[in-house]
Amino acid sequence: MKKLFQGEEIVHGAKILGDMMKKSASTVVLTGAGMDTESNIPDFRGKNGLWRNMNPMLVASIDNFYNNYDEFHDYYTTRIKRLEDVKPHEGHYILADFEKRGIIKSIATQNVSGLHHMAGSNSVYELHGNIKRAVCNSCRREASLDDFLNKQKCQHCGDLLRPAVVLFGEALPRDMWSLAEKDIKNCDLLIVIGTSLEVYPVNQFPRMARGRIALINNEDLSYGREFDIKLIGRAKEVLQELSRNV
Ligand code: OAD
Repeated sequence: MKKLFQGEEIVHGAKILGDMMKKSASTVVLTGAGMDTESNIPDFRGKNGLWRNMNPMLVASIDNFYNNYDEFHDYYTTRIKRLEDVKPHEGHYILADFEKRGIIKSIATQNVSGLHHMAGSNSVYELHGNIKRAVCNSCRREASLDDFLNKQKCQHCGDLLRPAVVLFGEALPRDMWSLAEKDIKNCDLLIVIGTSLEVYPVNQFPRMARGRIALINNEDLSYGREFDIKLIGRAKEVLQELSRNV
């Protein structure tokens, strides 16, 4: 059976995926930066990705936070400011609607933009944190984002502030990981949207899925475990087509 659909074939592929969703008692969605590019947030490794000219391990790492706070601060300031006028696109709203209608159970996301919440999704596991929140690196108390942007120190312990995101060299938040892992291990269908699946440990999730796995991405991915269906196109357009079929 044909598994990869692109261009005009997306209409047909979306019907098949829509049928899979209708038959699935529990569907989970896993999103990455490609989910947000149509809201004008660049991805990392795509054609115009943020990291085409930058080594993420050096900039967005806990080592850099300690060794070169100014560079760390500049990088995150640029990313935070870029989000100021950003809004969810129709694809985010479609996923929120799927949750309200009981068609999907939850969204596990690598994105730190908060756009799924903004679109009205409630069951969202932010595996890499949220860039619109700031915390103290030492005592972990919440701080205002403005304090971080203005390079203020923690009001409680005086240490440096940072965005509430996972940095290279750090573990993922255990609570979010466990909730996502439980849903994914038990779901009938996992729909992976807009991620290169290059980053550990989230890229292990499709392998853990008990049920079928689907890909919506603008480039084909080769991945250890075969996808049951691949819709190769832009997330917003594919989700629009999918929403006509469920
Ligand atoms: P990547 O930039 O690695 O991958 C994004 C994928 O989405 C690529 O395959 C793009 O081709 C695809 N894509 C881009 N725009 C799309 C669109 N409109 N529709 C469909 N697909 C599209 O981003 P992630 O896999 O999310 O973590 O990256 C994972 C993690 O890498 C990030 O969360 C970040 C980074 O390290 C941390 O900073 C901890």
